[in-house]
Amino acid sequence: MKRGLFITFEGVDGVGKTTQAERLRDYLTQPTALQDYLDVPRPTVLLTAEPGGTPLGEKIRQLLLDPSSRMGKRAETLLFAADRAQHVAEVIKPALEKGQTVICDRYTDSTVAYQVGGRELDEGDVERLNMWATQGLQPDRTYLLDMNPLDRRLTGEVDRLEGQCFEFQNRVRRKFLDLAKQYPERIMVLDGSLSREQVWTLIKGDVDRILAERASAERLA
Ligand code: TYD
Repeated sequence: MKRGLFITFEGVDGVGKTTQAERLRDYLTQPTALQDYLDVPRPTVLLTAEPGGTPLGEKIRQLLLDPSSRMGKRAETLLFAADRAQHVAEVIKPALEKGQTVICDRYTDSTVAYQVGGRELDEGDVERLNMWATQGLQPDRTYLLDMNPLDRRLTGEVDRLEGQCFEFQNRVRRKFLDLAKQYPERIMVLDGSLSREQVWTLIKGDVDRILAERASAERLA
């Protein structure tokens, strides 16, 4: 069976990526008129998030976000990697192997942006850690919602990472944009200051194109 499609959403906090990820999940689970007619089962789409996509990850997430946690940057990075290793092994890989589409709210690019860009750890070290934790599993497509951290819409209580200063958030943003330059085939940058509707139209157009390409590749195979 063909491996499912793996899509990730990335960006600084409060940029609206969770809303877009949910919208994409809803869009992909809607049966099309043709599927209805042919009585094809609805595609299975899994929406998940990091940190916290497994029972172990939920505990790790609490440690990571608690403003009272005293935590060095290496310990922080290893906890994100531990969360991800469990998430890949327990949730993401098995779903993809069953042919399901997986949408993940944050993945390895967040560790590069926050722990290399924000915390200024060594990029090579973090890349190797990411590869090791994920067993080399990379997304097929990444939507990076970009926004000036000053324009973010933060709601609710501010967690340990959201509470970092503007310079930190700006280094995170720059690192995300560097990654997009490094991997232009995988990462699509979307202007987070556009309306939700405009951002969604761009994502939908791109996903439709990817699905059409996959369908024609399957027909040729
Ligand atoms: P987030 O998805 O923003 O949680 P919530 O939507 O509840 O705010 O992620 C929590 C924080 O963790 C966020 O500030 C980004 C940060 N983060 C890292 O620093 N490194 C990582 O590898 C990941 C996945 C997240």
